[in-house]
Amino acid sequence: MPIVETVGPKTARSPLPLPEIAGDNALRRFGALPTPSLQWNAEVERETAPLYARVKNVVPPNEWPFFAPYVKAINALKRERNAVILAHNYQTPEIYNCVADFTGDSLQLAREATRVDADVIVQCGVHFMAETAKILNPDKTVLIPDRKAGCSLASSITGDDVRLLRQRFPGVPVVTYVNTSADVKAESDICCTSSNALQVVESLGAERVIFLPDEYLAKYVASQSKVKIIAWKGHCEVHERFTGDELRQVRESDPSIQIIAHPECPPDVLAEADFTGSTAHMIDFVRQRRPKRVVMVTECSMADNVQAELPDVEFVRPCNLCPHMKRITLPKILDSLLHMKEEVVVDPAIAAKARRAVERMIDLKR
Ligand code: 13P
Ligand code: SF4
Repeated sequence: MPIVETVGPKTARSPLPLPEIAGDNALRRFGALPTPSLQWNAEVERETAPLYARVKNVVPPNEWPFFAPYVKAINALKRERNAVILAHNYQTPEIYNCVADFTGDSLQLAREATRVDADVIVQCGVHFMAETAKILNPDKTVLIPDRKAGCSLASSITGDDVRLLRQRFPGVPVVTYVNTSADVKAESDICCTSSNALQVVESLGAERVIFLPDEYLAKYVASQSKVKIIAWKGHCEVHERFTGDELRQVRESDPSIQIIAHPECPPDVLAEADFTGSTAHMIDFVRQRRPKRVVMVTECSMADNVQAELPDVEFVRPCNLCPHMKRITLPKILDSLLHMKEEVVVDPAIAAKARRAVERMIDLKR
């Protein structure tokens, strides 16, 4: 069933204001800690050797002396702060493999956020992920190491836009991708991620669904379902840059190559893919099939992280960098734990409404 209508701003929006953070409230509650030594020496080398073993295929030996003192300091500080680090699959290998307590796609990170026992969650990902963790944990302290880590999808739509859509399409349920602000989630019936979008849309039993804000994910869902989809013109600035032409060239150069793509890519890109799925599903595909050569049509760090685990698989370009994900670095994570910044806050009334939409998604049977 094709998309029945695509709505949305005709021109690109100016960036939304920076997300709300709570000043230095968390610092006042927890207090600052002194900066630890960041010297590279034999003791640091010995202590971090098991962690280096995890990334040695993708982190050159001459870079490890820079990363290792941060890795050691961050892991010690996590214990001192009773903090956990949740890291998205797009985080760089030294974060993903060496300081994260839990890694995954957006759905896995949201699920994990409901199980966290620690006082503090440090979200190594982008702002909507940290906000989702806060929505699910109103009493915990949620930190993001760089508050400017945004997302072009999240900034493509506001809560006002959703309210207007509801007036224009009365009675049509609204599904929003988790790549949205709390305000947008609060106006939705249910959230979804790239790993459950089809299941969520079909769970509503509706003839028509408003699906926001990713036009290409909406088109992908529409291609798999009989439900009529009303889409929005939001795009991921990373995935929209891939083209069908570049993948056809890759395929011509090696017909046996496996091309696996994220559903935020345009339809002509997905048409060239052997498999389409969320970041976690893409990783599982490579783990299970062990292709000789593969293109992961998504953010570049994904391939590095899987390469660290599976050195026999050859990862072929293209890939694109997400500038927002790349704002998160080891020095900023260290600073976040030392100075309890940046604390993510969500207005409690908005959080309560948004929680309903996120929990409704989490509660869907797998
Ligand atoms: P996943 O939920 O598939 O990890 O996607 C999140 C994201 O931002 C992809 O660009
Ligand atoms: Fe947003 Fe795209 Fe970056 Fe994912 S890759 S966080 S969708 S801009």
